[in-house]
Amino acid sequence: MLAPLRIAVLASGRGSNFAALLAARDRDELPVEFVLVASDKADAGALQLAQMAGIPTAVMDPRDYAERRDYDFALFDRIAATKPDLLVLAGFMRIIDGDALKPWVGRMINIHPSLLPKYRGLHTHRRALKAGDAEHGASVHYVTAELDGGPVIAQTVLPIQAGDNENALAERLLPLEHQLLCAVVALIAAGRLSFGASDISLDGEPLRKPLRWLDGTLIR
Ligand code: GRF
Repeated sequence: MLAPLRIAVLASGRGSNFAALLAARDRDELPVEFVLVASDKADAGALQLAQMAGIPTAVMDPRDYAERRDYDFALFDRIAATKPDLLVLAGFMRIIDGDALKPWVGRMINIHPSLLPKYRGLHTHRRALKAGDAEHGASVHYVTAELDGGPVIAQTVLPIQAGDNENALAERLLPLEHQLLCAVVALIAAGRLSFGASDISLDGEPLRKPLRWLDGTLIR
């Protein structure tokens, strides 16, 4: 049996994605150990959840650092000290310096609420609605120096309904995001996914397009 995957989570906000990972672990569906939950915001919901679950936490305030870059290097030093196998950005609302994240490329994933490469950055629901898209969704991707631009591992697709607004769309998408993130972390924990120089492999075979979350399973 593989040793549990050591995960560090970075989150700035309410922490529902982290909560979903924690719940999956508690149901014995994810063989993972959370070694750290780190945040740039002292009031992040994810920190509270971690504390209640007995998981180490770290708050690092960007205002304590002269330069953005100094913050990022300090943050990653703190994370590295916990020796994680995987870093999960679960609603971490900062752009990370490319040099600081370089050592983690292939070991860091992000959940983003759009069908990448569409709508990198913020306000994805609003932008999908404004464009009149028929479908919206979420993506889990490896993090590289390009914002929301790393190779996409898997996506979940959600039809946009007549009369949808930003909130309704966000609300319907969120549970799918949670499922998608847990499913991708499960693949990584099982040692089935890897990211080389620029290619993702699943079970040793190159992944030519993102996996799709459909009916409770990831399909090629
Ligand atoms: C999610 O929509 C995620 O896709 C985005 O930020 C949001 C975080 O939500 N990156 P939560 O803090 O996990 O509840």
